[in-house]
Amino acid sequence: MDIEQPTEPARGLRSRLREAVRSTGYAAYGGGIGLLALATVPVGIVVAVLWFLRVGRRLVLPFLGWLRWLTDAERMRLRRLGHRIDDPVRVGEAPEEQALDSTTRREVAWVLIHGIFGVFCAAVVLQLLLITANDLTYPLWWQDVGPGEQLLLNGLLPARTDSRALLGPVIAAIAFVLWFFASPRLVAWQAQPGLRLLGPPPGTDLSARVTQLTATRAAALDAHTVELRRIERALHDGAQNRVVGVAVLIGAARRELQRDPVRAEEILAQAQDTTEQALAELRAVVRSILPPVLENRGLAGAVNAIAADCAVPCTVTIDVPVRCPASVEATAYFVVAEALTNVSKHSRADTAEVTVRLDAGRLQVRVRDDGRGGADPEAGTGLAGIIRRVEALDGHAVVSSPLGGPTELRVELPCGS
Ligand SMILES: Nc1ncnc2c1ncn2[C@@H]1O[C@H](COP(=O)(O)OP(=O)(O)OP(=O)(O)O)[C@@H](O)[C@H]1O
Ligand SMILES: [Mg+2]
Repeated sequence: MDIEQPTEPARGLRSRLREAVRSTGYAAYGGGIGLLALATVPVGIVVAVLWFLRVGRRLVLPFLGWLRWLTDAERMRLRRLGHRIDDPVRVGEAPEEQALDSTTRREVAWVLIHGIFGVFCAAVVLQLLLITANDLTYPLWWQDVGPGEQLLLNGLLPARTDSRALLGPVIAAIAFVLWFFASPRLVAWQAQPGLRLLGPPPGTDLSARVTQLTATRAAALDAHTVELRRIERALHDGAQNRVVGVAVLIGAARRELQRDPVRAEEILAQAQDTTEQALAELRAVVRSILPPVLENRGLAGAVNAIAADCAVPCTVTIDVPVRCPASVEATAYFVVAEALTNVSKHSRADTAEVTVRLDAGRLQVRVRDDGRGGADPEAGTGLAGIIRRVEALDGHAVVSSPLGGPTELRVELPCGS
């Protein structure tokens, strides 16, 4: 069967018409986002003023969350339009850090520009279509409406005579041609502020990322050194001392062998005990490097085992459908182990809660207790060690523990999947 192919100009016109219709849809979508951006401006000003007056700190994070949602909606629109736009790197955890972060500043600038320019572009595209539809049909209905509504060109041009009314289709044709050719261009202009401000800024975010990676690399080396020192101390103070003891005992036993075989036997028994102790200590050191419980029972089993040993009743929720790299699992395990040891030792809590879940390729670990609060990473080595260990894997750890509680330790680790 032969299919009739459209002629070249017809195909060109058809695809251009499709493009104009598509652009109108995207312009309207961008206009909607622009209206939300416009509404965000006064809210942003109020939040900024309250924050400046030091009474609105609590409002900063929800506002930044909204800003992120809105800018993500625009990023999605730009991607659907066929643009490549990467998510910017965000640094900082505290509201102040996030609010002053260069990504946020650029997003605020986008809100201001898109709130005006994005809405304007959408309005132009939609007005051209509206004028086309309204003015084309004007000669048919202008006599049926009151003199106040006898207007062409979106209400700008009064037309109260037959000859004037015939201007309607002419204006409609011009508006249609303008819409046909200009709407793709207007959508391209409408995308510009987002393309310039919502991606990673050229250089700045990259340098923030480099700073962050340099810091975590230093932390990795640091954590590595601390870990080596800990293993060295454990071997030196434990197993090595015991083995030295064994050597001394065997020497003593040899000397006693001729003189007093019974005494030599006693000393050898003592040497055997010491050897067993050395072995137990070696086993403990090995376990502290990569706990075998992780190997045997996986992260879920291992975390449940620590929670079962916790002095405070502890609920565990684990949602990790796949296995993470061994280093990540081991770090998560040590995080939960240290946090629950702290809960038993310091918190005086009635209940504790451990949640481990894998979310978008990142392992989220949360340990919370309803105790007295006041955890301070600078007051001991446990929490500081956790933070260093997590940062060494390019993860993130936050301790929140106001006096009076509750205490929450949140850790996020990239899982590499
Ligand atoms: N869950 C908690 N509830 C209340 N206070 C806590 C909690 N966790 C830690 N703390 C406080 O924070 C301090 C620091 O904790 P960290 O784990 O760093 O050290 P530590 O437990 O005292 O010693 P270690 O180095 O053996 O872990 C603790 O001394 C304790 O006062
Ligand atoms: Mg501790």
